[in-house]
Amino acid sequence: MKYAIKINNLTKGFHDKTNFMPKWLVSDSHKNKFYAVKDVSFDVKKREIFGVLGPNGCGKSTLIRMISTLLTPDKGSVEVFNIDALKKPGEIKKLINRVSVEASFFKRLSAKENLLYASRLYGIEDKVAIKKFQQILKDLNFPESMVNSQMMKFSRGMQQKVSIARGFITDPILILLDEPTTGLDPKSKLDVQNFILNLHAKKNLTIVISSHDMLEVEKLCDRIAIMDKGKIIAMGTSDELKEMVMKENTYELETSDSAKSKRSLQKFKQVHNIITHNGTVRFCTKDITLVADKITTTLKEKNIKFKNLKQVVPSLEDVFLEITGKSLEDRP
Ligand SMILES: Nc1ncnc2c1ncn2[C@@H]1O[C@H](COP(=O)(O)OP(=O)(O)OP(=O)(O)O)[C@@H](O)[C@H]1O
Ligand SMILES: [Mg+2]
Repeated sequence: MKYAIKINNLTKGFHDKTNFMPKWLVSDSHKNKFYAVKDVSFDVKKREIFGVLGPNGCGKSTLIRMISTLLTPDKGSVEVFNIDALKKPGEIKKLINRVSVEASFFKRLSAKENLLYASRLYGIEDKVAIKKFQQILKDLNFPESMVNSQMMKFSRGMQQKVSIARGFITDPILILLDEPTTGLDPKSKLDVQNFILNLHAKKNLTIVISSHDMLEVEKLCDRIAIMDKGKIIAMGTSDELKEMVMKENTYELETSDSAKSKRSLQKFKQVHNIITHNGTVRFCTKDITLVADKITTTLKEKNIKFKNLKQVVPSLEDVFLEITGKSLEDRP
């Protein structure tokens, strides 16, 4: 068996009782029904770290819930280690675990009590469970002295580390990590990312990780599916995805006003895929010599200070922009 997951034409729609329908959602003939996931097909190989990258509301969590058998698809199939998720969800649940962004805990109980509660549900002896979660929490740089403190006193990063420990305590052979580092401070984010990579190197483990952080997905994942509006719009290794935008070269320019610079660049028809990021403006163009002088003249005329025009390797953000015409950070 080569594959950990096989997904075919997976589709899930919801009825929107609030009558609020984001304009991009694909509508159905049924009134107020929209598709959160629409005709999604892909395979995940055993031991792969597979990323699902996409903006808020594109359907990542819905997709992960269907793989973890928590949601029933309207259409299509999911097989996890050759087991049909619709027919035998119980068998799949024994092999997998999920860490969700909105993990729930007994807030007045301690981390230890929460972890023991979860491990008992899986029939794991307390002694074994304690040894396991102590090691996981240590690997996550979770302060040992806090394990007996109430969860309600924990920062978001600490709660997330307990949530991750709960996900791994059952020794899953497939783990579904739904935005495992969203909202974490940079140090906790790094702790979690390193933990995932170290564990994957040691164990026979397949990982699916959803994120809207392109750098994270690039750092962790062997292959990436880019999702938008419930569909997979591109899939491949990060190099393969970046080749999609390689037909033009990508440049970056540091400027005193990136938003104003972006608007100025939009006037040049030879310049495409313009995005702003941390005081820089990025854009693609086939031949920089054709536009460099015009760009600098325009920026000077507008009193925008700039320096360091340099060619850069395109990012997954550039790929997303090339395919969808919008930035990953844009909300629906
Ligand atoms: N149970 C539900 N009932 C109705 N609508 C839902 C339900 N679950 C999700 N949706 C809607 O389906 C769409 C996709 O949601 P989903 O949570 O899968 O996206 P996401 O990519 O995980 O977003 P985020 O990055 O914000 O977590 C959204 O418009 C969401 O509001
Ligand atoms: Mg989500």
